[in-house]
Amino acid sequence: MMKVAIVGTGYVGLPTGVGLAELGNKVVCVDKIEDKINRLNRGELTLYEDGLEELFKKNVAAGMLSFTTDMETAVKDADIVMLAVGTPPHPLTKEADLKYIYAAAAELAPFLTGYTVVATKSTVPVGTGDEVEEIVRKNNSKADFDVVSLPEFLREGFAIHDFFNPDRIVIGAESDKARNMLLELYRPFAGKCEFLCVKRRSSETIKYASNAFLAMKIHYINEMADFCEKSGADIREVAKGMGLDSRIGKKFLNPGPGYGGSCFPKDTNAMAQMGKKYGTRLNLIETTIAENDARKARMGQRVIETIREHPEGKIAVLGLAFKGGTDDCRESPAIDIIKEMIRHSRNIRVYDPKALANAKAILNNTVSYAESVEEACKDAEVAVILTEWEDFRHLDLARLKKIMRCPKIVDMRNMLCGEEVVAAGFDYQCIGRK
Ligand code: UGA
Repeated sequence: MMKVAIVGTGYVGLPTGVGLAELGNKVVCVDKIEDKINRLNRGELTLYEDGLEELFKKNVAAGMLSFTTDMETAVKDADIVMLAVGTPPHPLTKEADLKYIYAAAAELAPFLTGYTVVATKSTVPVGTGDEVEEIVRKNNSKADFDVVSLPEFLREGFAIHDFFNPDRIVIGAESDKARNMLLELYRPFAGKCEFLCVKRRSSETIKYASNAFLAMKIHYINEMADFCEKSGADIREVAKGMGLDSRIGKKFLNPGPGYGGSCFPKDTNAMAQMGKKYGTRLNLIETTIAENDARKARMGQRVIETIREHPEGKIAVLGLAFKGGTDDCRESPAIDIIKEMIRHSRNIRVYDPKALANAKAILNNTVSYAESVEEACKDAEVAVILTEWEDFRHLDLARLKKIMRCPKIVDMRNMLCGEEVVAAGFDYQCIGRK
């Protein structure tokens, strides 16, 4: 059993804390936001993740997991302190803004006792480990510590699943002592996944290079989908045919409205900036960023086109989260598409099974909000699926046909069976086939 402190209780920190407690470690999570910690201490989760609640409650009850706003309480006995604070894009430069990382490093340093590994879980630019090391040293000249890069590969919505089923664990450590401590922490996964011990700078790069590659893969399949729409091919068949080549792989070949979320947009931008900083232009990544932005605007226009004859007609939006399984709307393609549509229509009614509250905070009163698919679609001219929630796979088409003003569906996640939708009397558009 190890004592682990986790700084930051967001989408990375909280699931990681719960997962490490479940593996038998004593975990203290610390966050500056008092309200968050109060809620967690009352047994209330502050974000939605499949499977998180049960493990959270179990480990709190067992005394393996606790929450505090006090850095000293969290850090003083810890063997490992993990930094899991945000690294949002800088509004002007789009580089990763490291102010929370630096502040956390300075704040925790005075409370380190005995040998401690300070591991960076947040996604940070190459060389950040060196800076964290310097900050800790400056704030505690006697501290016995090593700074390690420990990138996180969890997907939102699958964080608990991914925590317990990692493809690889990457440890970027410059000292044997730190490396061995992390190998020990993750020993329960020995034999189940690859362990990769690398230089700290390589580890920091692996995280960005992986996210940028996945973003490019999605951009590529979206481009192929556009091509299929024009050429008469079917992207489902094309993606399947490509994915069967194990060098390409089946995953991340689903075309859609463009990628979003709190990671791909931020990390591709940060990587492009890093390329400029080091004087090596990352053209593929730069093109991916620009094309993904353009795609979202185009998708908004595609919907507007469907109401050309009735510009006052109501648009029903199904799905606001950046993908299914999460309530997160940060950089959600749905939000950008809605913003594009708002330029042409003030009659938009939106629904999402989990993300309504987060979407409201962004869209305010520019759209109206529905509590169900049916409420969103009533009297609508067109219904648009923007997030792949399982519920949307089983829409009651007969009922929708009755309540919509016009039976039209634009399915930007290719969730529905086109033949069935057309047979039910709808005009149906999807991505990557006619
Ligand atoms: C992503 C990575 O997948 C994780 O490995 C990584 O740890 C995480 O970022 C992070 O850096 O923290 P996440 O942002 O949760 O995870 O979301 P993804 O499941 O990767 O989806 C990102 C976006 O791509 C979503 O908008 C999704 O709808 C879109 N996408 C994904 C597609 O359009 N097509 C696909 O085939 C796959």
